[in-house]
Amino acid sequence: MPCLEVFVMDTTQKTPSPRSAPNTGARRAAWRILQREGRRLEETPLRTLLENPGRPAQLRLEAAGLIADFSKQRIDDAVIDALIGVANSARLPEARQYMLSGGIANPTEGRQVLHTALRGLEGDPNAAQLARAERQRIVDLARRFRQGELRGHSGQPLTTLVCIGIGGSDLGPRLVCDALAQPGGPDVRFVANVDPADLARNLVGLDPATTAFLVVSKTFTTRETLANAEAALHWLIHAGIPREAALRQFIGVTAHPEAAERYGVPATQILRFWDWVGGRYSLWSAAGVSIAIACGPEVFEQLLDGARAMDEHFQSAPFKSNLPVWLGLISIWNRDILDCTSQAIIPYSERLRLLPNYLQQLIMESNGKSARVNGSHLGLLSSPVIWGVSGTNAQHSFFQQLHQGPDTVPVDFIIARKADPATLGGPDDQRHQILVANCLAQSAALALGKPLPDEASGEDWHKAFPGNRPSTLILLPAIDARSVGALLAAYEHATFVASVILGINAFDQFGVEYGKVMAKSVESALAGGDASALDPSTRALLGYFRG
Ligand code: F6P
Repeated sequence: MPCLEVFVMDTTQKTPSPRSAPNTGARRAAWRILQREGRRLEETPLRTLLENPGRPAQLRLEAAGLIADFSKQRIDDAVIDALIGVANSARLPEARQYMLSGGIANPTEGRQVLHTALRGLEGDPNAAQLARAERQRIVDLARRFRQGELRGHSGQPLTTLVCIGIGGSDLGPRLVCDALAQPGGPDVRFVANVDPADLARNLVGLDPATTAFLVVSKTFTTRETLANAEAALHWLIHAGIPREAALRQFIGVTAHPEAAERYGVPATQILRFWDWVGGRYSLWSAAGVSIAIACGPEVFEQLLDGARAMDEHFQSAPFKSNLPVWLGLISIWNRDILDCTSQAIIPYSERLRLLPNYLQQLIMESNGKSARVNGSHLGLLSSPVIWGVSGTNAQHSFFQQLHQGPDTVPVDFIIARKADPATLGGPDDQRHQILVANCLAQSAALALGKPLPDEASGEDWHKAFPGNRPSTLILLPAIDARSVGALLAAYEHATFVASVILGINAFDQFGVEYGKVMAKSVESALAGGDASALDPSTRALLGYFRG
């Protein structure tokens, strides 16, 4: 039985005031009921649950144009009720309201959490107003870029944008541009890795006279991003552009505009966001200006609208019909009750091929933790390992293990109802049907399995498919801006829901910060500095590089 201490937000005042709740009887009781449900369903395989013809309708939710079918999860109505009981005992309704209305929902860093304000939710009037004004600047800049009004040193319009940023300053915009950019728009590329190969590869074929660089960094201190920006600047200077003029081909996006200005980015080309936007939630902010440039400002606006529709649903729908709440509840069920250590994300959509990468950061950086908000040790299992690639490719790599391997890996299948408009195969093009058929077939095969043929009587395990492997299917009307916005917002809220139930702060990332500090001291040792504080293994390895 995991330790059940929870954090409780102090909703009476807007101060960083999490306090450790005693292991309340209500919370213990709610978890006990959930565990009992787990034991009850142990004996009931999905094959049996799916004999109920009413099940799909009972376990399907719709929100903001999305449909989520949970009928192939190892749940039933009683499990959902028990999960909602756990959520209520963790004070999820209060925590949700507290976050959306601008409470200090990130208490370890003393910050509000208001990415929803960027999408037009009015929970905090001040944040909503700042977001509106900056959105106008984003749209204006994108329009000017797309119309060729931004010019480089030679007077030629800047036509290519190389975006430099890492983590949340990269993954979201990269995903959305990859999903939604149509041919004919500006050439927008992304560089994240400090490995020189990343920038070099992306600069191939580009003309310094027509290339702009977008440096996205919330802190404007991230080592990798600044090193890549410096290399990009050098590339322009090396092409004969004076330093100051080269910097005029830079656009900055940051929560610290003074740092970008100090770096030399012209003030008129600095867009900003705020501390109340977490790095991994920043694609909705000016960090998403690359989306507005690559796909058009109207697409960026639709993306925000789709996300807002999901926000409104999350804010007001009862838990019984709240899609992101269910997504979060089921992640807890699979991890803490069914003991699944990982979770696969398989978009049957090439446009969404970067979704697993994006969700890795969102979910694992948010909930991959072992501390409660109050700093004590977490007694529950937190985030599963998130991984995946697009289907059907995934079927030909690791699906063998999903079907017959020793571990149960819950899968989220994501697919669009409408075929991609890029269909070139003529009126007889069957590829979308093939895609859909494969997606549905995989989820059915995982759920149902295939019993051993009688005559083999358990002898030939090659042909045994155990089944009972859960999945959710999320159906989008199409891969368009609104649906993608709603989908990403649903996962954001689901991640928050899981964090509240676990009692952790989803919005800090001390593990990453520690890695950054270590990298600094190793970097200095590599450059010849004192290495005595490092462990013998790392010191020995340094020897290979120092020479
Ligand atoms: O990976 C850790 C992290 O702090 C992320 O949360 C953030 O998105 C990324 O680093 C980049 O940080 P910045 O935007 O400040 O450069």
